[in-house]
Amino acid sequence: MESTLTKSPEETAKVAVNILSKVEFKKINKPIVFLLRGELGGGKTVFAKSIGKTLGVKETITSPTFVIFNEYRAGKNMWGVNRFLHFDLYRIENGNELGEIGFLNLFGKDSVACVEWPENMGEKYLEKFRKMIYSIDVRFEYGEKKCQRKISFGLEKQNFG
Ligand SMILES: Nc1ncnc2c1ncn2[C@@H]1O[C@H](COP(=O)(O)OP(=O)(O)OP(=O)(O)O)[C@@H](O)[C@H]1O
Ligand SMILES: [Mg+2]
Repeated sequence: MESTLTKSPEETAKVAVNILSKVEFKKINKPIVFLLRGELGGGKTVFAKSIGKTLGVKETITSPTFVIFNEYRAGKNMWGVNRFLHFDLYRIENGNELGEIGFLNLFGKDSVACVEWPENMGEKYLEKFRKMIYSIDVRFEYGEKKCQRKISFGLEKQNFG
């Protein structure tokens, strides 16, 4: 895992753009999903908003805490992504609840998603989910100062053959 220290929300937003630019869209034939973990206030939503904005979403991206997820139409972007999905699984207790909303069918090859609190879907469901996506793991930790965040990330290794 690579890691970087940010000193403001703006810097965290830039890190999101930087990680997005490392994704080899052309070689990946699966929905691309950022799995965002870390404490409350770590910066997961700041990160997700930046991803959406970079994909050309015009609407204001708001935290989907009470609705599990929001879906946005992407705008012009260099990757040909059509949809941006933003999930907040904070209130989910396990994967069964996701099964009920047809979670696994919400993702498409033309979409990029950010999922906050992916650990709440439970290990088994998360493993099942991982098999159908290209995942980018991102972890947020507080730094020593109030506005510092340590962001660690790892892109799924794919055998591109
Ligand atoms: N370096 C930084 N990076 C990101 N956010 C920062 C940073 N420094 C301060 N902040 C502040 O921390 C807060 C991060 O909030 P955000 O909603 O993104 O967290 P979250 O991880 O989504 O939390 P939750 O688990 O509640 O959804 C914001 O109020 C933001 O202004
Ligand atoms: Mg959040």
